Amino acid sequence: MPKQIWKPGTVLYPVPVVMVSCGDMEHKNIFTAAWTGTINTNPPMTYVSIRPERHSHALIQQSGEFVINLVTKDLAYACDYCGVKSGRDVDKFAQLHLTAKQGEKVAAPIILESPINIECKVVQVQHLGSHDLFLAEVVSVSVSDEYFDKSGKFHFNRSHPICYSHGGYFTLGEQVGSFGYSVRKQQNTTSIQKKPPRKMRKNRHHKKTPKT
Ligand SMILES: Cc1cc2nc3c(=O)[nH]c(=O)nc-3n(C[C@H](O)[C@H](O)[C@H](O)COP(=O)(O)O)c2cc1C
Repeated sequence: MPKQIWKPGTVLYPVPVVMVSCGDMEHKNIFTAAWTGTINTNPPMTYVSIRPERHSHALIQQSGEFVINLVTKDLAYACDYCGVKSGRDVDKFAQLHLTAKQGEKVAAPIILESPINIECKVVQVQHLGSHDLFLAEVVSVSVSDEYFDKSGKFHFNRSHPICYSHGGYFTLGEQVGSFGYSVRKQQNTTSIQKKPPRKMRKNRHHKKTPKT
C-alpha cells in the first residue's frame, strides 16, 4: 500500500470536542477545546491544552478550575461559536442563550444544556510550546436526568454526542462492537470470535461499562 509522508503534525482524529466553561458566575466564559482527554481512572484525571492567548487561559490560570461540558448534536452550533468568538468581545452564555449554574465543587459555571458536566481542579500546568497543558483532577460530575431509563440505567449515547474529525463535527454512527467483544466466548464454544455475534450486529446494548 503506497503512502505519502507528511511533516509531523496533529493528525490524530477523531477526537472529543467539548465546551469548557470557566471563570465564575459573575465573569463567566466558554471556549471550545478539542485537545482534551481522559488520562487517569483513579483518581479521575483529565487535561485541556490551551493557547496562552485565549481569554480562558487567564481565567483558568487565575482560578485553577474549569468545567468540561460534553457536546451533543443540539449544541454543535454553540460549540463552534464558542471556538471562534472570544469572551473578551462577547458574553457567549448570553449570545447563545445557555444556562449557567454554579458548579457543585468549583466556582466556575456548568452549562445546564450539556448532558454531562465534569468539574475539574488544576493540579499542574505544563508549558509545551504552542499550548499550555492544564492537568486536572475531576472533583464532581453532574449528569442530566433525562438520559436515565426507568431502571436507573444511564444512556449517554441517546444524547447524540459529537466528536471532531479533520475540521468537521460528527455524530456517532453505527455501533460496531463493545469492549472485549473480540475475545468474548459464545455459548457452547471456547474459540475466539472473529466476527461479532449476530445479536451485536443489531445494535445490542450492553450492561457493563468497561474499566479502562
Ligand atoms: C473545534 C475547535 C477546537 C478547538 N480546540 C482548542 C483547544 O484544544 N485549545 C485551544 O487553546 N483552543 C482551541 N480552539 C480555539 C478556541 O476555542 C477559540 O480560540 C476561542 O475563541 C477562545 O475563546 P476565549 O478567547 O473566549 O477563551 C478550538 C476551536 C474549535 C472551533
